[in-house]
Amino acid sequence: MTGNFSDNTDNINDENAFAKLSVWSEEYEKTSGHKPLALVHSYGCQQNVSDGEKIKGMLSKIGYGFTDDVNEAQFILYNTCAVRENAEDRVFGNLGDLKHLKENDPELVIGVCGCMAQQKHIAEKIKKTYRQVDLVFGTFAYNDMYKMLWEVISRRRRIFNLSENHVDINEDFLQLRDDRIKAFVPIMYGCNNFCTYCIVPYVRGRERSRKPEAVISEVTSLVKKGYKEITLLGQNVNSYSYGFPQLLRDLDMIEGDFRIRFMSSHPKDASRELIDVILDGKKICRHLHLPVQAGSDRILKLMNRRYTVEDYLGIINYAREKDPEFSFTTDLIVGFPGETYEEFCQTKELIKKVKYDNIYSFVYSRRSGTKAAEMENNISDKQKGLWLRELLLEQREVTSVWLSRFVGKTLRVLPTGEGRTGSDYLTGKCDEDIIVEVKADKKYIGKFIQVRITKAMNWALVGELVEE
Ligand code: SAM
Ligand code: SF4
Ligand code: F3S
Repeated sequence: MTGNFSDNTDNINDENAFAKLSVWSEEYEKTSGHKPLALVHSYGCQQNVSDGEKIKGMLSKIGYGFTDDVNEAQFILYNTCAVRENAEDRVFGNLGDLKHLKENDPELVIGVCGCMAQQKHIAEKIKKTYRQVDLVFGTFAYNDMYKMLWEVISRRRRIFNLSENHVDINEDFLQLRDDRIKAFVPIMYGCNNFCTYCIVPYVRGRERSRKPEAVISEVTSLVKKGYKEITLLGQNVNSYSYGFPQLLRDLDMIEGDFRIRFMSSHPKDASRELIDVILDGKKICRHLHLPVQAGSDRILKLMNRRYTVEDYLGIINYAREKDPEFSFTTDLIVGFPGETYEEFCQTKELIKKVKYDNIYSFVYSRRSGTKAAEMENNISDKQKGLWLRELLLEQREVTSVWLSRFVGKTLRVLPTGEGRTGSDYLTGKCDEDIIVEVKADKKYIGKFIQVRITKAMNWALVGELVEE
């Protein structure tokens, strides 16, 4: 989708860039009294957050420190998301705010990478309109970051790298994780599904799976370091090429006090075997995020999702026959081109039928280059907004009743921070992926606790600590 646009990386191949940057940062530290500081901000999904952590690892190897303050940074890098228009607008807004910083400090390096940067029209817009940006590179170019950064710093050239060459998965990386309790572990990259509304296959390329040995060894080492929750990532983990249920079984055997989650699971490939592995697992959470997107077969076909509502309910019913309380969450889109109010109401009906513990719902956003972008978009933004509200009201009603199945039961919860209910409360999630607020001392943050559930709200459960 990028063509060759003004990609100007042909002669950027200084093999010594790593060493030169390391010397440069040492010099910088000597003269200024501190390491050069980078601000790396990742937008979008967990996959992107994980990429951002690897970028930070690469920068730390050449001597960068990190900051969250744009005024302190010598390198500002926005690792962007292109999934909806509002995600892109936010980045453009933030880039606009950096203009004056660059005017005051021409040495400041400003970069844009990730999914947005992989698109030709975005790179063109940045080139013309956001002249404060020095470095633009897409999702295939991370391994060349040292060469590009050195070119910008040493020759003050603006670099645009929209390469689409699939490079081998690099297993030799250092990841600077922001979280000490939960870790994201990608098991595969890219997507082959081409849902008609979605930009991801265009900006992330084809599916590539990591070897099971690499995943198992990473998870083992994270557990040894004390991580309590491992989330396996992939746009469709069910097409992990070495077999996803087997990978889950292997990870379930790792010794230690931790739990395993994963996302996302495309319903067309979600098998009964997968449900069985979840139910048999000791470490695998009894929860499945199964994005349905719409409740009408006609819209699902137009979306190229390749399942019907009946197929979808088949997998839900299989799980619920084995465990009637099995927890499901989903993603939904309202206002896909051509969707009628009646079809939208079928999505609401599906929420009632499945009884989700939570939904992530989005207003359809036209993504240039996708198939749906060529379909007639007949629904106004106002209308889509009203449908979204209606959907959320339905979900709240369903969820507040459905969550009450846990009242009186004791659930395992991993507190991750202070609660919303009050300052003496902690918040965390139970294995079923529902937020739980519990009155407990901060010393329990990052430790599994048992919580007796006393109340269900429409967004969370509340409970009391069960002392062991
Ligand atoms: N691969 C995952 C899957 O198929 O379930 C989804 C990944 S996507 C990053 C996350 C969610 O964004 C999708 O499930 C969909 O609901 C939503 N989404 C993707 N493209 C969209 C668009 N053009 N407009 C609105 N929502 C969109
Ligand atoms: Fe997008 Fe569909 Fe791929 Fe998910 S499976 S990333 S929605 S194309
Ligand atoms: Fe993720 Fe957004 Fe890219 S959701 S894969 S960062 S388009």
